[in-house]
Amino acid sequence: MKVTVVGAGAVGASCAEYIAMKNFASEVVLVDIKEGFAEGKAMDLMQCASLNAFDTKITGTTGDYSKTAGSKVAVITSGIPRKPGMTREELIGINAGIVKEVTANLVKHSPDVIIIVVSNPMDTMAYLVHKTSGLPKERIIGMGGALDSARFKYRLAEALECPISDVDGMVVAAHSDTGMLPLITKATRNGVPVSEFLSEEKQNYVVEETKVGGATLTKLLGTSAWYAPGAAVSVLVQSILCDQKKMIPCSLMLDGEYGQSDICLGVPAIIGKNGVEKIVDISLTDAEKEKFATAAAAVREVNGDLKF
Ligand code: NAI
Repeated sequence: MKVTVVGAGAVGASCAEYIAMKNFASEVVLVDIKEGFAEGKAMDLMQCASLNAFDTKITGTTGDYSKTAGSKVAVITSGIPRKPGMTREELIGINAGIVKEVTANLVKHSPDVIIIVVSNPMDTMAYLVHKTSGLPKERIIGMGGALDSARFKYRLAEALECPISDVDGMVVAAHSDTGMLPLITKATRNGVPVSEFLSEEKQNYVVEETKVGGATLTKLLGTSAWYAPGAAVSVLVQSILCDQKKMIPCSLMLDGEYGQSDICLGVPAIIGKNGVEKIVDISLTDAEKEKFATAAAAVREVNGDLKF
């Protein structure tokens, strides 16, 4: 099955690489606006095939969407990333125009496509795709929670001084420094609540470091991260193409779930061959419900800046 990745920059190329390395897609088409860039990245990645033993074909195109025709999944990573000190929300002006145009091109050539939105501010960009693409809501998935949960697990394992495979945890609500909601009350180490091992101070440390996980990397790298974002996208794409039905937190259009409607926010969902198969209702504490509602209010404000 064919996967299109729009934007052959840091995140797009990383995600194409992880998809190819896992060998579950027949073809990955990279699209970029920069002349020759996607073609170059595709050629470089294809030259890894014999070294890394994958058969996925990777091709690139400078804006020729006919090459993307018949894609099962398309990932939108096109746009600008943030620089140190910037919030994700500050990217809205430029990225909204790009995401809208890219979405129209994708849907024209692949009317049955499932779109994964990565460009920031992601919750608002996912909302924009819902409002402009005409696709059913099950086929639009914002990627944020998969990455933020991975960063949460990294910080949990660090605090617990244990292997990452021992810990489990999930981040919901908004993909923003202030609106992210790492569910520390549900985080576990080998199935045991982490509150059994970590002081309140340490739990707060884990939560706060998770929330600024992206900003910490942006400060270190001078631009936003790409390895973990690319890996997170590949997990979503694999769950769709291989119909794994994994539960992954994603930014989805809500229709009453978690007390919200007409907004995209991070909630756990079963992801399979049809895209979003089911939004999972997990019980939140009163404090978590309040934080979820505050995050929703902030995202609504950013959504208000969109022009359709
Ligand atoms: P990048 O600058 O390395 O790559 C973006 C690419 O998009 C560039 O190659 C550019 O030429 C291309 N592009 C721009 N306009 C285009 C158009 N109209 N059509 C096709 N291609 C176009 O940026 P990077 O680091 O890959 O980040 C991409 C986006 O992903 C940013 O908005 C960033 O904030 C976001 N991001 C989101 C994450 C998430 O968890 N949702 C995580 C990391 C980044």
